[in-house]
Amino acid sequence: MPPNPSRATIVATILAAGKGTRMRSRLVKVLHPFLGRPMVLHLVDAAFRAGVDRVVSVVGHQAAEVESAVAGAFRGWNLGFAHQTEQRGTGHAVASALSELGDAGTVLVIYGDTPLLRSQTLAQLLTAHRKEGHAMTVATFRAADPTGYGRIVRDASGDRILRIVEHADATPEERQINEVNAGICAIRRDLLEPALARLEPHNKQGELYLTDVVELLATSGEHVAAYTIADPVEASGINTRAQLATLEEIALQRMRLTWMDRGVSMQDPGSIRIDAEVDIGEDTLLGPNVQLLGKTRIGHGCRIDAGALLDGCELGDFVHIKAYSVAAGSRLATGAEIGPFAHLRPGTELGEKAKVGNFVETKMAKIAAHAKASHLSYLGDCEIGRDVNIGAGTITCNYDGVDKHKTIIEDEVFIGSDTQLVAPVRVGRRATIGAGTTVTRDVPEGSLVVTRSEARTILGYYDRHRLPRLEKKRAQRAAAKAERAASIAAATPETNADKEGT
Ligand code: UD1
Ligand code: CA
Repeated sequence: MPPNPSRATIVATILAAGKGTRMRSRLVKVLHPFLGRPMVLHLVDAAFRAGVDRVVSVVGHQAAEVESAVAGAFRGWNLGFAHQTEQRGTGHAVASALSELGDAGTVLVIYGDTPLLRSQTLAQLLTAHRKEGHAMTVATFRAADPTGYGRIVRDASGDRILRIVEHADATPEERQINEVNAGICAIRRDLLEPALARLEPHNKQGELYLTDVVELLATSGEHVAAYTIADPVEASGINTRAQLATLEEIALQRMRLTWMDRGVSMQDPGSIRIDAEVDIGEDTLLGPNVQLLGKTRIGHGCRIDAGALLDGCELGDFVHIKAYSVAAGSRLATGAEIGPFAHLRPGTELGEKAKVGNFVETKMAKIAAHAKASHLSYLGDCEIGRDVNIGAGTITCNYDGVDKHKTIIEDEVFIGSDTQLVAPVRVGRRATIGAGTTVTRDVPEGSLVVTRSEARTILGYYDRHRLPRLEKKRAQRAAAKAERAASIAAATPETNADKEGT
């Protein structure tokens, strides 16, 4: 083992094997989304950003799901996974990771349920740990309410930590201590292994506590130091859904301020939701209640109006999303415009300055530059060329009850209102489709197609047909009303007027 830990590899272990019973969920706690991303990924991300060389996740409950979430999000990074089949405590969890530590000189232990932890804090902890050459450095903070946390017991000088006593095992005097263990520590690997081997479950919970390593090291003369985290919120763990909601709101508040600092304007910022992986360009304006989710990327100078929801979308510059539009998995080029009340489903691509108006639904639709579908349409499994005009009420009939088929509309086509395009079908360049047409066969370039039947005109129809029927109906209604009034009068024995008369 290298004696000088400052030159050795740093490996982070993230403890994520627990079930998270207090979440009362079928989903393991560390996979619950936090700002749109499984909680545990925030910590893997923070560890790599802090400069660790490798991240080993300790998995147990729903191990396969946790492992694939981490592996999927950090493809190409130096990852390891350790399986802790039985959760016998945090010390046991770290011990399960030993075989995955490689040539680590320093081990950074992080708990998987503290998603607000910042990479800067981890980096500072590591710097302090390596500069001083301590055996172990424990992140601590002053808790307003230390209940549930391990208490930090220091020596007389206050310089060293002697031991950490868990809440359940603490005496009433020890419970008065408000300096607590944040659940993050850096430790020399050569000291960690033998210390873990000596842990014993002699405590209220019958577990192997990682925190007992402190006392084992201190009594053998090693220096265990504290690194104080200034903002206790950062170290807060999530155990319940209420805590998740509270911490997420704190994280959202930070997120909004970050984007405003980077040149994004917001109306009623408190109502706006921005997920962790979203990117927004300068001079973009977000209206009230906007939700930007997943890996949504937005260019500069865009306008996203009230109530719009974008999930996993890519927007160029100067795109305008009008109020209450919903778009998922879609790409919108510069100057495109949708809504109000547009619905873009996955696979939608809008070219430059293309326009999709109110009550238009699209799915797997490639709509080229300057094309317009301004009102009330369903456009699915289709390719629409440049400068095409899609009239109100146009429907691509893409599903025959068994299979989906494609509709291709070439450049400069004009589609009249209330058209059905029965796929598979191709409408050639510059063709015109008359309003109310059902297109079932390919349309040649430059032609006009209409399937309208000849209209018949019958003069005097109102006087001869509608009026006599209306009069008959009015007479029937009047007779029924008179009959009801008569039967009510017969059923009422005495009126108030009669009483007053006596
Ligand atoms: C732990 C600390 C406590 C500290 C607090 C900070 C110990 C003994 N106690 O207490 O000093 O103040 O965190 O939040 O370390 N885990 C496993 N395998 C296990 C047990 C736990 O992977 O066998 C994981 C859990 O999934 C969780 C993390 O370790 O992510 C912490 O475990 P938890 O039981 O929540 O510890 P606390 O009681 O909160
Ligand atoms: Ca905890």
